[in-house]
Amino acid sequence: MNPIRVSIVGASGFAGGELLRLLLFHPKVQVMQVTSERYFGKPVSKVHPNLRKQTSLTFCGIDDLQACDVLFLGLPHGSAQKQIEHFLPLAERIIDLSADFRLNDAESYKKWYGQAHRRPELLQQFVYGIPELHREEMKSARYVSSAGCNATATILALYPLYKEGWVHADRTVVEVKVGSSEGGNKVSKASHHPIRHGCVRSFKPTGHRHIAEMEQELAFGQSLTIHFSATSVEMVRGVLATSHVFLNRSLSEKDVWKLYRHYYGKEPFIRIVKERDGLYRFPEPKLLAGTNFCDIGFELDARSNRLVVISAIDNLMKGAAGQAVQAFNIMYGFEKTTGLEFPGLHPI
Ligand SMILES: NC(=O)c1ccc[n+]([C@@H]2O[C@H](COP(=O)([O-])OP(=O)(O)OC[C@H]3O[C@@H](n4cnc5c(N)ncnc54)[C@H](OP(=O)(O)O)[C@@H]3O)[C@@H](O)[C@H]2O)c1
Repeated sequence: MNPIRVSIVGASGFAGGELLRLLLFHPKVQVMQVTSERYFGKPVSKVHPNLRKQTSLTFCGIDDLQACDVLFLGLPHGSAQKQIEHFLPLAERIIDLSADFRLNDAESYKKWYGQAHRRPELLQQFVYGIPELHREEMKSARYVSSAGCNATATILALYPLYKEGWVHADRTVVEVKVGSSEGGNKVSKASHHPIRHGCVRSFKPTGHRHIAEMEQELAFGQSLTIHFSATSVEMVRGVLATSHVFLNRSLSEKDVWKLYRHYYGKEPFIRIVKERDGLYRFPEPKLLAGTNFCDIGFELDARSNRLVVISAIDNLMKGAAGQAVQAFNIMYGFEKTTGLEFPGLHPI
């Protein structure tokens, strides 16, 4: 079989760079072109020094893109929908990492993003990109929209509980702690080292746009409210989501174990992490850097019938590039783990 010819738009970014790291070593893929307007003509190692001597690719402009099999888009929010006319004829399949096509309802998009969608008729054509939830649709999909990183960590933690209807749907409170690479590689006051270093900063106590994805994926035909807050902490990569879920029935920890095993036991990238003792009793993002895992743990507070579900991912991997490659593998019928086998580093 000929290799699948892929190109990456926005390859100088953090998510694009991570895609490139994965796709260069994917045995079924040939990376054709990578774009950056700022670094046009420069070797990719200029921006991604980890890729020195791994590729001779240089950045090209979006206007230079040629036809390929799959186009991965790693552009900032708003850019993909603005330029989609240019991208659609170039590739049979598109995997977009931005938020532009995640919501399947134009009204919801307007509500959360504050403006009308430019191509609302395309929203239904994009499959929401969490493979564990949408594998069957992905098998025949032409277009996939990767999920937000905070949304991925939260939805994977809550999905079995909401699907089974075991929770008070409007009472779940989620707090995520996020690393700085979530903000991309553009420089801002908030990312300036003396300002960002050592901070534990609540940056979105309410109103985070990823809530729209969570409520879309966890609704199952009912209305619900997810109460979500986000805090920046001293990490480069990683998301730790702590979800406080109020159960609507009496359950034991064994019941909860069984539930997660039922939903995720056969999923190669989801691990239930719950040890009785030792250091590593619950998920920790640090241990997941560079991997495509989502680790999920929990503890039941019988006193209040509150289940605390703890989930961790690497935002650039399971929260972006790794998730996109996982979807790509499904679209082409490759082994689920192809190109995603890295087990992480310890200690790190
Ligand atoms: N960072 C994360 O953890 C994460 C997780 C999940 C999803 N995402 C999503 O992935 C996308 C990329 O995120 P990122 O963190 O990689 O951002 P980033 O580091 O800022 O990279 C953005 C990329 O887009 C290019 N670009 C910027 N403006 C452009 C424009 N108007 N036209 C064409 N190219 C443009 C940049 O290239 P130039 O060199 O030309 O400037 C760069 O390659 C975003 O939509 C983000 O929401 C990010």
